[in-house]
Amino acid sequence: MKILIAGGAGFIGSHLCEKLLKDDHQIVCVDNLLTGSEKNIADLKTNSNFSFISHNIIKPLNFDQKIDAVFHLASPASPNHHSKLSYHALPIETMLANTSGTLELLKFAKKNQAKFLFASTSEVYGDPEKHPQSEDYRGNTSTTGPRSVYDESKRFGETLTAYFWRKEGVDGRVARIFNTYGPRMLKDDMRMLVNFIHQAVTGKPITIYGNGKQTRSLCYIDDMVKGLTRLMFYPKTKAKIVNLGSTQEHTVLEYAQLVKKITSSTSKIVFTEGLPPDDPKRRQPDISKAKKILNWRPKISLEEGIKKMVIYFKNNF
Ligand SMILES: NC(=O)c1ccc[n+]([C@@H]2O[C@H](COP(=O)([O-])OP(=O)(O)OC[C@H]3O[C@@H](n4cnc5c(N)ncnc54)[C@H](O)[C@@H]3O)[C@@H](O)[C@H]2O)c1
Repeated sequence: MKILIAGGAGFIGSHLCEKLLKDDHQIVCVDNLLTGSEKNIADLKTNSNFSFISHNIIKPLNFDQKIDAVFHLASPASPNHHSKLSYHALPIETMLANTSGTLELLKFAKKNQAKFLFASTSEVYGDPEKHPQSEDYRGNTSTTGPRSVYDESKRFGETLTAYFWRKEGVDGRVARIFNTYGPRMLKDDMRMLVNFIHQAVTGKPITIYGNGKQTRSLCYIDDMVKGLTRLMFYPKTKAKIVNLGSTQEHTVLEYAQLVKKITSSTSKIVFTEGLPPDDPKRRQPDISKAKKILNWRPKISLEEGIKKMVIYFKNNF
C-alpha cells in the first residue's frame, strides 16, 4: 500500500513511518518540520520505499501518485507553557493545522478514495467531569480558555472528519490519543517525562509543577503505533472514534520517583509554582471500544518504556 503520513517527521509520525516501512508499505512523509526534525527520519531516508515532501498541510497538496491511506498527525502537540514548540507558542499554526490542514487532507483523501485517520487528542475532553472518559463523553472545554487553540481546533478537526465520512464518502476515523511517551520526543518539547529524565541524568533538581498529586496515564509509543495502524486498517473501523491510551494511572510524583530510580539519580525532587490554569487534574481513557474493535490494549509496562526512553535520551540530550 502507498501511505501518506502528514506529520511523519514528528515523534509519533516517525515511529509510524518506521513501523509501516517494516510492514513493506510505501511511505510518503509530508511535514514542514515546524516541531518535527529531519533527524527523526534520517535513517528512513535510505529506504527506497520512503519519500519525504516538505509541505505545509494547510495548503492544497499536489501529489499525483495514488495514495491508499492518509494519517493526519501534523500539529504541534505539547501543552508545556515553557516550550517554544508548544501549541501555546504556535497558536495560529496549531489552529490552522487542525482545521484548514484537516480540510485539505480530507479533500486529498476523497480525491484518492483513500482511508483517512485524524489524530485527535484526549484534550477534547478538557477538564473532565467524568472519569474515566469514554468516547461518548462530550467534554468540558472552553472555547476561549488558554488551551482552546488546541482543544477547539482538534474538536473542529473531528467535526470535519465526521462530515467527510457522513456526506462525502470518505472512509475516515478519529483516534483520540492520550499522552504518549518514548524515544524521539523532542528535548525542547519538555513534556513531563523528558523533563524528568533530563533533570535526573544531569543531576539537576527534578521539578514538579504543583503538588504532584495530579495523575497522568502514559502509553508507550510502540503500543500507540499499533493502535493507530489497527484503527486505520482493521475492518469495520469506518466512522469510528476510538480512545487510544494507557489506563495505568500514576501521579506526577510517582513518575518522578520512577525516573529517579531507573536512572539511579541523586537529584532531589522539588515542587514549584507554575501549574497552568487549565491543567487537567485527572485524565484516563476508557479503552473498552479499542479492546472490542481493535483487540488492542497497551502491553509495554511503564518501567520497560521508561528504561528504553532513558537509553535514547542519554545519547540524545
Ligand atoms: N504525543 C502525544 O502524547 C499526543 C497526545 C495526543 C494527541 N497527539 C497528536 O498526535 C499528533 C502527533 O503528535 P506528536 O507528539 O508526534 O507531535 P510532534 O510535534 O512531534 O509531531 C507533529 C509533526 O507535525 C508537523 N507539522 C506541524 N504542523 C504542520 C503543518 N502545518 N504542515 C506539515 N507538518 C506539520 C511537525 O513538524 C511535526 O513533525 C498531533 O496531531 C498531536 O496533536 C499527540
